[in-house]
Amino acid sequence: MEVQWVGVKSPRLGPPHAASVILSILLGVWSSQALEMNVGKINHMEAVNGSTVMLPCVYYSCIGIKNLYFSWQFNESGTMQKVCDSVIASEDAMPHVSVYRERVEFVGMNDECNISILIWNITFEDGGEYTCFGRNPKEKGKNHSAIFTLVVVDELRVVDNTLATMLAAAVGGAIALLMGFMLLKNFTLFVLSKLEEKNRECLVTSSGIDNTENGLSGSKADSKPTPKKK
Ligand SMILES: *[C@@H]1O[C@H](CO)[C@@H](O)[C@H](O)[C@H]1NC(C)=O
Ligand SMILES: *[C@@H]1O[C@H](CO)[C@@H](O)[C@H](O)[C@H]1NC(C)=O
Ligand SMILES: *[C@@H]1O[C@H](CO)[C@@H](O)[C@H](O)[C@H]1NC(C)=O
Ligand SMILES: *[C@@H]1O[C@H](CO)[C@@H](O)[C@H](O)[C@H]1NC(C)=O
Repeated sequence: MEVQWVGVKSPRLGPPHAASVILSILLGVWSSQALEMNVGKINHMEAVNGSTVMLPCVYYSCIGIKNLYFSWQFNESGTMQKVCDSVIASEDAMPHVSVYRERVEFVGMNDECNISILIWNITFEDGGEYTCFGRNPKEKGKNHSAIFTLVVVDELRVVDNTLATMLAAAVGGAIALLMGFMLLKNFTLFVLSKLEEKNRECLVTSSGIDNTENGLSGSKADSKPTPKKK
């Protein structure tokens, strides 16, 4: 065993290769997970107009950060509007954040990689997609982002809507079921009547055939003279 291991260690054999392959795989996994922006498991929220909401975002980095650039962007009907941005020197540094949108406050303070923001007194215009964006210079400008969706609703309308929707769904469902049942019933009856018709036709023809096969004189006499007359 020991002799074999000595042999394996020699550079002419495979293992150094294998080691480098494993190393590059590890590095690949590593670099692909170097930075991650995360807005939480529930990446959307419904809030009533006039309320104050927090848009959560934290970053994870297994290789550490240095001068991490981050921003929040709002998708204003297709164009990305910067909400705020900053550069975080290191994990424990407090960033100075520039805010470009009214009623927005940076609350994460880079505490435990937290870069969440608060939007005060939201209006319907605040509803939409917010992108939490990050770029770590340690990764040569690789971009990372996560999207959080804010839906602004009117409290009264929400209650009405859900009730109305539930009612409509219940009533609609019942009606649909009833109609479906009636349609099914009608269709079944229709099919049954058609089948019956078919059967009657079949019975008629088969009885006719039966008649000829049975050699009933009456029917033979009736059918044979007609072609002759034509
Ligand atoms: C929300 O919007 C409605 C309609 O625009 C308005 O009447 C209501 O006062 C608003 N609520 C708040 C809390 O701002
Ligand atoms: C939010 O609304 C409250 C009450 O209307 C007001 O006192 C406060 O200044 C507003 N905050 C911001 C950031 O606009
Ligand atoms: C981020 O910071 C805010 C404000 O301090 C806090 O409410 C929130 O829970 C924090 N989020 C996480 C994921 O730590
Ligand atoms: C990263 O995002 C910036 C805009 O913030 C853009 O200019 C750049 O091309 C992006 N880089 C990659 C690799 O997508």
